[in-house]
Amino acid sequence: MKININGKEHTVNVAGNPMLLEVIREQLNLTGTKYGCGEAVCGACKVMINGNSVPSCITPAVSAQGKNVVTIEGLAFDGELHPVQQAFLEVDPFQCGYCASGMTVTAAAFLERNPSPSKEEIVDAMNGNICRCCTYPQLVEAIFQAGKKMDLIKNR
Ligand code: FES
Ligand code: FES
Repeated sequence: MKININGKEHTVNVAGNPMLLEVIREQLNLTGTKYGCGEAVCGACKVMINGNSVPSCITPAVSAQGKNVVTIEGLAFDGELHPVQQAFLEVDPFQCGYCASGMTVTAAAFLERNPSPSKEEIVDAMNGNICRCCTYPQLVEAIFQAGKKMDLIKNR
């Protein structure tokens, strides 16, 4: 099957109906996307499909056919970090970093729809992403800052 990931067509083997996470990590070697719970609870495996963040651990790879998949490796554009990546770099909210990929992808998808969120809206949008190091206040602050950067880009 052909699948579009980070703007490139890849041919992948979907015999046995693998989940998208397995295809991304094991066939395409895009290991930025992490395996956590395996049951759509932690958010570590989130990728974007057609602009929505989805848990790739429970998403059959075949369901992504004909859609645009973006992983953490595809967020930077033209040599520039995505505003969420930039804000995470500046605020530095992560400890172990295991949640970082899923947090980044989820925040990027959310801010595309709502670049000027309140902190309450951020908490609500990030509800499906767990950070075992519990750095939530810093994460919310970083996403808030990222929204401001996205607003600036859109208004250039
Ligand atoms: S590994 Fe997919 S949500 Fe936890
Ligand atoms: S920084 Fe460790 S899980 Fe989030």
